Amino acid sequence: MIRIRKAKFEEVLAVRQLAIEVYTDTFATQNTKANMDAFFTESYSIEKFNSEFNEPDSVLYVAVDDLKIIGFLRLRRHNEVDGQLGKNHIELQRLYIHRDYQGGEASRLLMEEALNYAKQRNFEWLWLGVWEKNFRAQKFYARWGFEKFSEHIFHMGEDPQTDWLLKLKL
Ligand SMILES: CC(C)(COP(=O)(O)OP(=O)(O)OC[C@H]1O[C@@H](n2cnc3c(N)ncnc32)[C@H](O)[C@@H]1OP(=O)(O)O)[C@@H](O)C(=O)NCCC(=O)NCCS
Repeated sequence: MIRIRKAKFEEVLAVRQLAIEVYTDTFATQNTKANMDAFFTESYSIEKFNSEFNEPDSVLYVAVDDLKIIGFLRLRRHNEVDGQLGKNHIELQRLYIHRDYQGGEASRLLMEEALNYAKQRNFEWLWLGVWEKNFRAQKFYARWGFEKFSEHIFHMGEDPQTDWLLKLKL
């Protein structure tokens, strides 16, 4: 049975490992190894994951099957979209499910947790960035009612990629 709970600091390494595995599964066929490696070095270092865990106004949830972490979700405050959404918003920064659990209940349970967290704190918007070619994730977010409101450029190594910015009114 899958349960959702807040991550513990000592689980950050396992979360990072899962992030790299799911990221590789999802994006390796459409990106060069050099760009993926550069991205991991820059954005997925152990130091980065550790410091993100301690960032104020952020939260890391894990989906656990027995004792195994099979998915996670991170929410944080970020002012990037203040111009479009005002000040009362929270970002769904990462949502990753192990391939064996995609298409199951883990993604729904994590999204419900994110919505509960955001609503309890009276945020007006939940928003996120998704790669324009990540069709599976786009379909998933559309099912939850997210709508595109903008775009930004995201650097995967040397490759500038377009992310769609999606918002959900809470
Ligand atoms: C994105 C993610 C969290 C969604 O969770 P999930 O459990 O896989 O989601 P679901 O299976 O419930 O929904 C995905 C939908 O896309 C469909 N789909 C599956 N493969 C697809 C593909 N290659 N292209 C387009 N749609 C696809 C599914 O059939 C499903 O459609 P439905 O809404 O009609 O049922 C999960 O797939 C994941 O972790 N992906 C890898 C990491 C990632 O991309 N994270 C998001 C970054 S913004």
